[in-house]
Amino acid sequence: KYNDLALTPPMGWNSWNTFETNIDENLVKETADIMVASGMAAAGYTYIVLDDGWMAKERDAKGNLVPDPIKFPSGMKSLVEYIHAKGLKFGLYNCAGTHTCAGYPGTRGYEYQDARFYADLNIDFLKYDWCNTEGINAKEAYTTMSNALQTAGKPIVFSLCEWGDNQPWDWGKPVGNLWRISGDIYPCFDCEFKHEQGNWSSWGFMKIIEMRKNIRKFSGPDHWNDFDMLEVGNGMTNNEDKAHFTMWSMMSSPLIAGNDFRKMSKETLAILSNKELIAVNQDKLGIQGFKYSAKDGLEIWVKPLSDGNWVITFLNRSDVTKKIYFDWIKEVIRDVDFNLETNFSTTNYKIIDLWKNKEVGNTKKIFISDLSSHDVITLKLNKI
Ligand code: DGJ
Repeated sequence: KYNDLALTPPMGWNSWNTFETNIDENLVKETADIMVASGMAAAGYTYIVLDDGWMAKERDAKGNLVPDPIKFPSGMKSLVEYIHAKGLKFGLYNCAGTHTCAGYPGTRGYEYQDARFYADLNIDFLKYDWCNTEGINAKEAYTTMSNALQTAGKPIVFSLCEWGDNQPWDWGKPVGNLWRISGDIYPCFDCEFKHEQGNWSSWGFMKIIEMRKNIRKFSGPDHWNDFDMLEVGNGMTNNEDKAHFTMWSMMSSPLIAGNDFRKMSKETLAILSNKELIAVNQDKLGIQGFKYSAKDGLEIWVKPLSDGNWVITFLNRSDVTKKIYFDWIKEVIRDVDFNLETNFSTTNYKIIDLWKNKEVGNTKKIFISDLSSHDVITLKLNKI
């Protein structure tokens, strides 16, 4: 464990997915206001994180980072205070390389100085990216920044954004609270989006879910696999947004919204603040779910919970409506990584449909339902 600041997956908002570097203090304040007024803060969303683009292009004469004075005319300190006064927490972004991905000053060679800068600002979260890092070692670079943050003394959630190429799950646990496992997310179900400039891709959310094999055993309280920020409300269909939020909950991924709160629809708000799904994500056992089966585009994912019960999600990955026909008593669910098992021929469970928030029978009866394309049914099984 790192510092116990993320015993459940962090929840919040980050500017990047919608705004990229087009950020300013009004956006941050309005987002914080809505986070509280909409009920999202009460549902668990806490961190407001500014991603790339908050800095001026140069450090000052003493080598200190400078918040962009045009985007943040009242200064970063007063913005942090504004966020804290709302009962929320504040995060910033930088990069292990010489420059950030968008070309702002990176932290390489300034680790201890930047850590003091963040401690002085009293921020609560640092996302630390991996552009322009030619020739350096990821474990060493992230460890140096981690040590610098600890030396600076202000407890901060440290979010590693290395994209998975250097296996952060193997060494990240004492270094930070969460680590990205993939390249960037893209608001689509299963696509690969090839960027015209440069030779890189962004990924539909189901691609990210499938990106890495056998790493779920490395995720848990205070050391999370990070499946990237949410694209809920950023242009997918309602079914897809629902499936995306469900899978992030099943995988115990951080829930960092990435949409424009000022234009959020009722449907988007309802998905992001679904208390039943958030409870699955925030379950204190913190075990990442896994794929139980897949056949003809119909997938079944399961996640064990701290109360000894299970959540099961049927996900229709195909383009047509599917019929679910699930005879519980013929199934045995085994979690080999965490040595857990349930057998429906010996144990009966009450079934609660989490999206309907309604009891729908028990596991002695065959579960039959239609499931439309890219939609999910998520059932909580409570031992009787
Ligand atoms: C790459 C990261 O993966 C993104 O999440 C975002 O932080 C951008 N860099 C910012 O430049």
